[in-house]
Amino acid sequence: MAISAQDPSTSDPASVTAAIEALSEARARTLALVGGLDEDSLERAHSPLMSPLVWDLAHIAAYEDLWLCHRHGGLALCRPELAAMYDAFETPRAVRGGIPLLGAAQALAYMRQVRERSTQVLLASGLGDSSALELVRRHELQHTETMRQTMAIAGLLADGEGVLEAMRGEQGWVAVPAGPFEMGAPATGFAYDNERPAHMRHTGAFHIARLPVSNASWLAFCAEGGYERRELWSQEGLAWLTQNDIAAHPLIARADPLAPVCHINWFEAEAFARAAGARLPSEPEWEKAARSEPPLLQSLGAVWEWTASEFSGYEGFAAYPYREYSEVFFDRGYRVLRGGSWASSETVATRTFRNWDLPQRRQIFAGLRLARDA
Ligand code: AVJ
Ligand code: FE
Repeated sequence: MAISAQDPSTSDPASVTAAIEALSEARARTLALVGGLDEDSLERAHSPLMSPLVWDLAHIAAYEDLWLCHRHGGLALCRPELAAMYDAFETPRAVRGGIPLLGAAQALAYMRQVRERSTQVLLASGLGDSSALELVRRHELQHTETMRQTMAIAGLLADGEGVLEAMRGEQGWVAVPAGPFEMGAPATGFAYDNERPAHMRHTGAFHIARLPVSNASWLAFCAEGGYERRELWSQEGLAWLTQNDIAAHPLIARADPLAPVCHINWFEAEAFARAAGARLPSEPEWEKAARSEPPLLQSLGAVWEWTASEFSGYEGFAAYPYREYSEVFFDRGYRVLRGGSWASSETVATRTFRNWDLPQRRQIFAGLRLARDA
């Protein structure tokens, strides 16, 4: 299916059928994820950092109703009284555990009800430029990763999920020469607003590690006093470390030593890199390496990779379709992660996709890859 903001409106039956099928695939993933959970696991607030899983479910439905049925299809909202509760900004994560959310059965019924409407909308109105469809499909796929973060905290992941394999392939560094490259997503095809406009970016010469940092390397950092050597930590990182009385995430010692380390926050990543006489790659460096032919970065897609860069708009950025997707997070201390994790959909996590989170967060499936000046 060709998806482009510039495409003429698409309403041929084959494209509409493919779109409905693509939405069903995303839904099948969501339902497979929660299918084995009991009501209490779905409705409980497992962590103040995360939503109860039923919030994600109803939020997926509310988002689909807003963007596909209402904005694209011109229908009135199906449950307008729920809009505020399931809007991520009006009802932030920390309060979601203390309000009367829809129960599990009601949330699932809401999802089915909206999907019936959105299917009718697609059949009646076609896909338009496909942007509403792609936004909704990728939104659901992104929330299955968010839900897995919650499930990881709660010990609810299925057996084997999130257990990363030993990395294969050569260790060491690869040299990337100075010079320009094209950064960002082209003007055609679906991309999030924060990936545009595509533009030429210059980097100096640098080296980047072929592989992400392993659990064994992380444990060596711990054994060498990485969490005690204050000189390794930034001021902000040190404040986080001392306020929270932090040691390495407990899962690291139990994981395969040769697998990529996971549940690392940005402060920890920065301290580790300093101890190794290296640094985190900047976002342009990461994208240049990831987009080069032949592939330089191995074991991509196991864990998100922290970059040194703060989340910000590319020059010429235009919010689309709403400021709250990206723009309100720009220049507020969020750091960019690149690549994708075991829990990410490959549809979502492209080489230009930009993820972001606060530097203290480590419930996400994030590790790091080192870089250094050439
Ligand atoms: C791109 C993962 C940072 O979870 O806040 C989900 C994705 N946006 N619903 C987030 C998203 C709206 C977003 N991240
Ligand atoms: Fe969302």
